[in-house]
Amino acid sequence: MNKLKTFIALFVLCLAITASAEDGSRLWLRHEMPKDITLKIDPTMPDDDGYRISGRTVTARTEMGLLYGRYALLRGEQGESHPYYKLRILNHWDNIDGSIERGYAGKSIFWNNRLEIDHNLIEKYAEANASVGINGTVLNNVNASPKMLTRAYINKVKEVADILRPWGIKVYISVNFGSPKALGELKTADPLNPQVRRWWQKKAKEIYAAIPDFGGFLVKANSEGQPGPFDYGRTHADGANMLADALKPFGGIVMWRSFVYGAKHKGEDRVMQAVSEFADLDGQFRDNVILQSKNGPLDFQPREPYAPIFDQMKQTKQMAELQITQEYLGQGDHLAFLAPMWKEFFSFVEPSRLVGIAGVANIGLDTNWCGHHFAQANWYAFGRLAWNPTLSSKQIAEEWIDQTFTDDRLKMKDERYEKSNHISHSSSFISQMTSIMLRSREACVDYMMPLGLHHIFKFDHHMGPEPDGFKAEYPLEWCPIYYHKADSAGIGFDRSSRGTGATRQYREPYSTLYDSPTTCPERYLLWFHHLPWDYRTLSGRTLWEEMQYRYNRGVNEVEDFIRIWQEARPYIDEQRWQEVDNKLQKQLHDAQEWRDTCLGYFGSFAI
Ligand code: GCU
Repeated sequence: MNKLKTFIALFVLCLAITASAEDGSRLWLRHEMPKDITLKIDPTMPDDDGYRISGRTVTARTEMGLLYGRYALLRGEQGESHPYYKLRILNHWDNIDGSIERGYAGKSIFWNNRLEIDHNLIEKYAEANASVGINGTVLNNVNASPKMLTRAYINKVKEVADILRPWGIKVYISVNFGSPKALGELKTADPLNPQVRRWWQKKAKEIYAAIPDFGGFLVKANSEGQPGPFDYGRTHADGANMLADALKPFGGIVMWRSFVYGAKHKGEDRVMQAVSEFADLDGQFRDNVILQSKNGPLDFQPREPYAPIFDQMKQTKQMAELQITQEYLGQGDHLAFLAPMWKEFFSFVEPSRLVGIAGVANIGLDTNWCGHHFAQANWYAFGRLAWNPTLSSKQIAEEWIDQTFTDDRLKMKDERYEKSNHISHSSSFISQMTSIMLRSREACVDYMMPLGLHHIFKFDHHMGPEPDGFKAEYPLEWCPIYYHKADSAGIGFDRSSRGTGATRQYREPYSTLYDSPTTCPERYLLWFHHLPWDYRTLSGRTLWEEMQYRYNRGVNEVEDFIRIWQEARPYIDEQRWQEVDNKLQKQLHDAQEWRDTCLGYFGSFAI
């Protein structure tokens, strides 16, 4: 009898586990596609994958447009919509051993040592991407293994491409510039050497024979130890053009990254080096080369001024690289909705200056795909903004919450929620969640880098503060003390014309505005200026008081998120509620650690 009871209990537990795993894997996609949708092809519509929705009729010029339109209908859209960019590409920093550089959601969905592809999983991934209009994916890390170009891996790329094709997603790969040499096939990887050029041409032919619609290459060259054209006294243009020539006959592109420092311009202010390396090459790139630059001039900090390379390259095609994975924004533990950060970038760099958008993915094998349930919102937001950069952060947040957390059952509860006195009576579940999301990135800025302080992160893993960070064996540009320059006279990096002159790389009016502390927006104050501790900020507080105020404000915000989340408990399934709550508690702990460590350290100079 007891045995039977145990058996039944185990059986029920197994069912429960299966159900909860299912629960945990929820994406925004869980609503059923309505059965009574009418689909129509209209060849007179603009020549892209846009759609028009009227009632339950979706009209498009292409099959892809119809697919996109169906998902748009599902999120409640009506009217006409067209993709702003042709290139809407995820960049996976996945290594071929299955690990992910700066990945916080488990191992790679593409790569493992067995070279096995999980077709169902990739299909689900494809659907999620297609539902927000993402139409390209780079399958491996920019710190690329040369092996990626061997037969075994090309076959795997083909296998993935075959699964993604029906969803309108092209595959791309990151390539190691030194591959012909590293694979032992040639003695050099010099881009002007005819043998090297032929090697890449043959390689392109081999790839396109397997994958006729292959997208092209992403390249990190002469950056952080990667090989590149400088190794042979050649320029970035020589390197990029050589690859572009190899891909050209097949319609492929080269996305060449400008994230370069410590090479030719070693010693110069790190944030200036990309412009110094590339500005003279403007106009020298082939038309199938796109320069891909991070949104800020440093490295995906929670807040950076925009990267001035977008101003400087006038004849070169450019793409922005945004980081969806939260390397510097609390990784898998902090709730930080990134749409407001990306919108801020677009307020400085006109979307029309770019030909595409890339996003460093936050996807892994974790049941919930992104490590933190709310990190899914950043994947979603990236896709939505790549389709239409004029959408508001609020609209994107509301759409995501509505599709992810509310279903008919919850909507019923939602009415109760509005009526309940838990939260101010006029607020609904969606607006409370939206409020957390919209405030979250600014909270992160407050407790990690108020007033433009930057790169105070712990070495290597970039989680947590290390304001006293300095290691003689590391490049100075990795050391926090290089960035905050705190001393008894003050704090901040003088990049004005009296300092490194980085402000000169900006177009007007920003060049002038940023150059003086009195006109520089306070959000960038210590990014561009070294100021005394008793400097008066706009609030009337001294710089030191203002720093304390902002660190505390960041911590208070997280406390408030926890309060709101507690009150939302009855309206969210228990598993997700609990998982997010655990993360919020960790976030609060981390925010306090940031505040206490930084104020403790800076206080030793300030007081
Ligand atoms: C950052 C990040 C690295 C990454 C690099 C890049 O420095 O920490 O892991 O390789 O950016 O974008 O190339």
